[in-house]
Amino acid sequence: MSSATITEFICHLLSATANASLYGVSHPQVARLSEQAFANIETVLQSRPEITLMVVENELVIDGQPHTVSLFINRFTQILKSRGIGILKLYKGITKSEVDGLIGGLAKQLEDTAQLMTSSDHVRLGKVNVNRSGMSAESAHNGSHSEKLSLPDMPRKELSQFMEIYTTLKNKHKLQINGVTEVVTGFINVFREEGKPLLAMAALRDADEYTFTHSTNVCILNLAQSMAIGINGQLLNDIGVAAMLHDIGKLFIPEEILTKTGKLTDEEFIIMKQHPVKGARHLLETPAVPRLAVITAYEHHMKFNLSGYPRVAAGWEQNLCSHMTMISDFFDALRTRRPYREPVPLAEITDMLHSMVGTDLHPALTRNFLRIIAGLEESAL
Ligand SMILES: [Fe+2]
Ligand SMILES: [Fe+2]
Repeated sequence: MSSATITEFICHLLSATANASLYGVSHPQVARLSEQAFANIETVLQSRPEITLMVVENELVIDGQPHTVSLFINRFTQILKSRGIGILKLYKGITKSEVDGLIGGLAKQLEDTAQLMTSSDHVRLGKVNVNRSGMSAESAHNGSHSEKLSLPDMPRKELSQFMEIYTTLKNKHKLQINGVTEVVTGFINVFREEGKPLLAMAALRDADEYTFTHSTNVCILNLAQSMAIGINGQLLNDIGVAAMLHDIGKLFIPEEILTKTGKLTDEEFIIMKQHPVKGARHLLETPAVPRLAVITAYEHHMKFNLSGYPRVAAGWEQNLCSHMTMISDFFDALRTRRPYREPVPLAEITDMLHSMVGTDLHPALTRNFLRIIAGLEESAL
């Protein structure tokens, strides 16, 4: 197989897809490009029975070999990922109408593709594996989490995208800040449209994928707090990004300590308490991370009266985003179902929040938060 031909195939397929999403599948330009893509793939499959294209993180791997990165290969990889496709297998005997079907499916908007992107005789689609436990994008979309909460409007794309960024980060310690920003923008958009359902999603969960789900929830809760007091624009985005990354330092804490269900020993707690400093340092070294994220990672356990950690000099002024994150963090921790307890009822959390005002938590922001959760009904969660 000449790699030039497979590259040409991808190029034509991509152009056809782009045209189909702009002008519809029946546009002559789409037909022409599809014809070319079909000719390319036929050539490729003349000398072989099949070809496998696989998305591995952000790379396109063709028959086990990573493809040279280029703008359009990258774009193609993104499209496959956004459609939840991790593996695309093409077999000898592929027909023109199967290529058309592939183009049509790829060109559809994400919401519509769930049923439309199906395998055919010579085109097989597999889902993306995005997390360590092997949960696929499919199960991330339709799995127990969304079923349990019965929220059809949950921002699937953002969740699976962030899960992937998070997994890459966990494995390679390489943060893709652009991806995080994109996810936050997605949340903000969904929030503008959905508001309450998104908030409800953040308000109750199981302790699975702890830090991942926790980060997205704290992000949603921070956005709710910020929007309620009229924060908008770049600052709103930065607050969301900061929330997403506030616990990033936990990547540097041993798994046994993070997942321990019992009480931590004194030594373990000392290690655990290092996550704000480790996180801030990591973010500081990562290009393009908003300063606010560094500050928030560092300050989110300090408490309003500075009695938390890390210890700082008296008179230290915490950023507003750190105060917000503390509130969201506290709320999310209590709403999490633990092996040893059910989520704490909202009424009880409300009482706790009241009692922490001025000592642990920022008074005005806590009142703001209480107003937000007063709008949620226990039964709706
Ligand atoms: Fe934390
Ligand atoms: Fe946290």
